[in-house]
Amino acid sequence: MSSIKNLLQSADWKAEKHVPAIEAQEKITKGQVFEITVTVGKQIAHPNTTEHHIAWVAVYFLPNGEKFPYQVAKIDFLSHGASVQGPNTSTIFSEPVVKVSLKTEKPGSILACSYCNIHGLWESSKDIIVE
Ligand SMILES: [Fe+2]
Repeated sequence: MSSIKNLLQSADWKAEKHVPAIEAQEKITKGQVFEITVTVGKQIAHPNTTEHHIAWVAVYFLPNGEKFPYQVAKIDFLSHGASVQGPNTSTIFSEPVVKVSLKTEKPGSILACSYCNIHGLWESSKDIIVE
């Protein structure tokens, strides 16, 4: 029997182009807004064509010791070069970069998930300390 948890792949984002790279301060101030940037293909560019592209990125926050994550954002990337002339003809391409702002009074983990239309689901996480 399949389970979605068995389909989530992870790796070092510096060596694998599908992994969402999470950038954020490691220590944040309690209740103060901080920025999170998630990039797919930060070190090794992922293809961005009509046939092969990153379709979406979702960002979650899981406070330490809690069971259920909070969804912070989900961004669909919808322009991949297609036009009325055909695939890869528009010159318009969404780039798989997400910037969101968040505040929390709880320490925890930022979790990110990306979806490649060919290579499936990828995940990564980053721990946040609250001062
Ligand atoms: Fe891919």
